[in-house]
Amino acid sequence: MHGQPPRAMVPATSRKGRMMRITIDEEAGTLTCEGPTGPESMPLWSDRAFEVIARQYVRVGWNQKDTYSFSWMGRPVIQLPDDMVRLQEVIWATKPDLIVETGIAHGGSLIFYASLFEAMGRGHVLGVDIEIRPHNREAIEAHPLSRRIEMIEGSSTAPEIVSRVRERARGFESVMVILDSNHSHSHVTDELDAYADLVTPGCYLVSTDGVMRDVADVPRAGAGWATDNPANAAEDFAARRPDFVLEQPAWPFNESTLSRNVTHFPSAWLRRLQPPRAGSQISRRSGTTRRSIWRISASSITSRRTPLTPARSISARHSARYAPASRRSRARSPGDQSDL
Ligand SMILES: C[S@@+](CC[C@H](N)C(=O)[O-])C[C@H]1O[C@@H](n2cnc3c(N)ncnc32)[C@H](O)[C@@H]1O
Repeated sequence: MHGQPPRAMVPATSRKGRMMRITIDEEAGTLTCEGPTGPESMPLWSDRAFEVIARQYVRVGWNQKDTYSFSWMGRPVIQLPDDMVRLQEVIWATKPDLIVETGIAHGGSLIFYASLFEAMGRGHVLGVDIEIRPHNREAIEAHPLSRRIEMIEGSSTAPEIVSRVRERARGFESVMVILDSNHSHSHVTDELDAYADLVTPGCYLVSTDGVMRDVADVPRAGAGWATDNPANAAEDFAARRPDFVLEQPAWPFNESTLSRNVTHFPSAWLRRLQPPRAGSQISRRSGTTRRSIWRISASSITSRRTPLTPARSISARHSARYAPASRRSRARSPGDQSDL
């Protein structure tokens, strides 16, 4: 806020559609939110104030299409840079040898993963998109990293496409899956069900762009996003799949007191757990077995009620440190290509 007048008023809208007013008073060193639940005042120079400001950064940035302004090694990539760094941390920590991503668009995310694999000396990327536009395909195939990339055209939930992906994934030792195609609840649910079994224990299944839920009331949002979004789909999936836990991956480096991702991926990170050994008894209440810790994640998910990313849905004690691991106008459906 340096360079701003000492008092800055930031009107915002709560998820329920009621106006919220955020007052930043640099002179007093406070941030005050006045919303449906009454005023909340906090020190400006605090983690909580950072989270409030970050939430508005995400919401306003989403509306202004901030994520439509980046590229990776020459190809447009439609991601929040924070999320790309977090993805990189997870890829380095879990070291998948195959990443399957649904939703290619211009190919920037495929190139991003391929560049990490190139640096790591191993790894292959498989992209799926319902429509790979010729100019995008040509640019991806002409890219210096193309030898690490394969693409399949077709709907990510069509049975023949799922079969082709499964066939291609055979033989890889560790597989990560990133879902970034059509972001409707039903499509993401179908993708989660179709691809979950490809994910190897310790690796992640990532249901991106749950931010739709947090921006459901901004001008550029689509109708129904408050419930029709990938975050809800991932939470529902986690509730019925005890072999996956929904958690923000631990940060490998953190000398701050912050703990929540600034992200477009709330409730996105589904880590596949190691199967319990024979003889282990799972207690659904505590989520623990005698030999390993299993957690039923849905019980600790709070994001449908809280305005910020549910970063600490699992205690640090239970999460392994390096866990072994829209851009649309109202008229458009999530994940379409109108801008690509
Ligand atoms: C948000 S963009 C992907 C962005 C890309 N992953 C990146 O980071 O730059 C969504 C893509 O999903 C694709 N898509 C939409 N519906 C799909 C479906 N049913 N199956 C596969 N891809 C789909 C669109 O064609 C579009 O290219």
